[in-house]
Amino acid sequence: MNKKQFMDLPDGIKEEWWGFHWLEHVTAIPAPLALVTGYKENGLANGTMQSWFCFSSVKHFYCIFGSVNKYTHMYEIASGKRQLVINFPDRACLENCMATVKNNSYEIDELSASGLHYHDGSNVKAPVVEECFLNLECEVEWEKELFEGSDHVALCVRIVWESLRLGISNY
Ligand SMILES: Cc1cc2nc3c(=O)[nH]c(=O)nc-3n(C[C@H](O)[C@H](O)[C@H](O)COP(=O)(O)O)c2cc1C
Repeated sequence: MNKKQFMDLPDGIKEEWWGFHWLEHVTAIPAPLALVTGYKENGLANGTMQSWFCFSSVKHFYCIFGSVNKYTHMYEIASGKRQLVINFPDRACLENCMATVKNNSYEIDELSASGLHYHDGSNVKAPVVEECFLNLECEVEWEKELFEGSDHVALCVRIVWESLRLGISNY
């Protein structure tokens, strides 16, 4: 196959989307998107879109987020309450999940403001998004700065419970 070579930013692609380097979007294309939820210190529900993560099943089932910004509510929750849910959206609720990026004030319930419904997890005190077809309840295991002084960390969580809604038709 004759592939076009790009050494630089391709024409028609903006230097930054959502504040990310364009290469991050290119390399994220094959990766799943998830909405990571938890409760902020004020008790209100939080939602954070994440794309750079993978799984490992050695001994336990782990998720490793490759690049979590320390200035997000998600990081505050991961290092404080240490309980999260990874929710996988289908097409029907993707726009609602994406809306949490704009509905990002500390003072609001980001999930309700984005038209999403939730209940507490069975094993963690974190919101399980009902519209999402797969919900992984997690506890934080460890974090590591990408380099000394970095404002991003790699974050490892252990899955403690999962619920999968059958009959997925809209993924
Ligand atoms: C599709 C998508 C993927 C994202 N992936 C990540 C990610 O991997 N790491 C990260 O720190 N932020 C990521 N973001 C940005 C956060 O979702 C965004 O900064 C969010 O507003 C943070 O919410 P919070 O402050 O409530 O945690 C992503 C955003 C989108 C739209």
